[in-house]
Amino acid sequence: MIIGVPKEIKNNENRVALTPSGVKELKKHGHQVFVQMTAGDGSGFADEEYANVGAELLPTIEEVYSKAEMIVKVKEPIEAEYKLIKKDQLVFTYFHFASHEPLTRAMIDSKSVCLAYETVEKADRSLPLLVPMSEVAGRMSIQQGAKYLEKPLKGRGILLGGVPGVRPAKVMILGGGIVGTEAAKMAAGMGADVTILDLSLPRLRYLDDVMPANVKTLMSSEYNIREMITDHDLIIGAVLIPGAKAPKLITRDMLKDMRPGTVLVDVAVDQGGCFETTKPTTHQDPIYIIDDVVHYSVANMPGAVPYTSTLALTNATLPYAIQLANKGWEKACKESNELKLGLNIIKGDVVYKAVSDAFNLPYTPLEKYI
Ligand SMILES: NC(=O)c1ccc[n+]([C@@H]2O[C@H](COP(=O)([O-])OP(=O)(O)OC[C@H]3O[C@@H](n4cnc5c(N)ncnc54)[C@H](O)[C@@H]3O)[C@@H](O)[C@H]2O)c1
Repeated sequence: MIIGVPKEIKNNENRVALTPSGVKELKKHGHQVFVQMTAGDGSGFADEEYANVGAELLPTIEEVYSKAEMIVKVKEPIEAEYKLIKKDQLVFTYFHFASHEPLTRAMIDSKSVCLAYETVEKADRSLPLLVPMSEVAGRMSIQQGAKYLEKPLKGRGILLGGVPGVRPAKVMILGGGIVGTEAAKMAAGMGADVTILDLSLPRLRYLDDVMPANVKTLMSSEYNIREMITDHDLIIGAVLIPGAKAPKLITRDMLKDMRPGTVLVDVAVDQGGCFETTKPTTHQDPIYIIDDVVHYSVANMPGAVPYTSTLALTNATLPYAIQLANKGWEKACKESNELKLGLNIIKGDVVYKAVSDAFNLPYTPLEKYI
């Protein structure tokens, strides 16, 4: 198959969809890979590293789209790319259609085949192409939180791990899923006093078994949250209710009960945030302050660490990209239910129910194609 890797052109996106190592794997399977020049620069991969493993470098994005049968990307296509996508072309990337009507309509019009990373789903209902980014964001939330707890950055001026003879900082993590677990591991490793709150008792049981002694678990309730916010230094928002907006677990009136310089990191900002005062920020301007409480709510946290994020993402996407390239999308999706669930739009038909529901578009059952 002919595979194309365009350079990401969304603002501040430095990841790339294939590493040189991924290109090498695809070449071993006999595929032709076109990579747009400088596509890997933001993640630390030079053009010559791609060329050395057999990628053919193209100077423009137009050429990549026009030659490829399958486009492998990271972010959803932006408007400038809509017209480049061809009829019958397979596009494998994050789309997040349900939150973007113009994109959905443009992809319907393109008559391409859109296979979305975020809806590829395993039998246990886990989302293998979302997990790596949650891992990055979870670990990063503590790194950022520790930084903004420093006095010159408007925090309380407390060191996460304390020192001998001085108590460590207290970290409260709302949600003990992927993000929350990775955050807890980092905070615990730095010596903080950590508590994870979740609604799921089986999840709390599991976390209690596997976490070190400086991580405690607590049932999530308004009562417990109100009690804890008064003396916790760093609060991480990491809840998710699949398919719904995040619940507002910390309300505006609670801020006055926190100590000045408390830091809130709302990782769930991409689902609306789990603090009432959350509004999305960017890496250029990541924080704002309300009632002396520092808010960090960058919607695309992994974007700040593209080297790690690219490797984490491509470790997860490459095996699927290889299946698609080897078999073509129809056979690959017939043989893999995980990939089949990634199909969102096929040649003008919306085949993913949540996307058709989001915009009142006609729904075509997948059986028409698979
Ligand atoms: N900002 C970013 O850059 C970024 C990156 C990756 C993920 N995210 C977001 O982070 C959030 C968490 O993702 P995840 O992969 O950890 O999800 P997950 O499904 O693994 O975990 C969510 C957890 O929240 C718990 N929960 C639900 N309601 C709760 C409540 N009221 N109180 C306490 N816990 C509750 C669930 O039981 C579950 O354990 C999502 O909104 C995701 O989109 C953001």
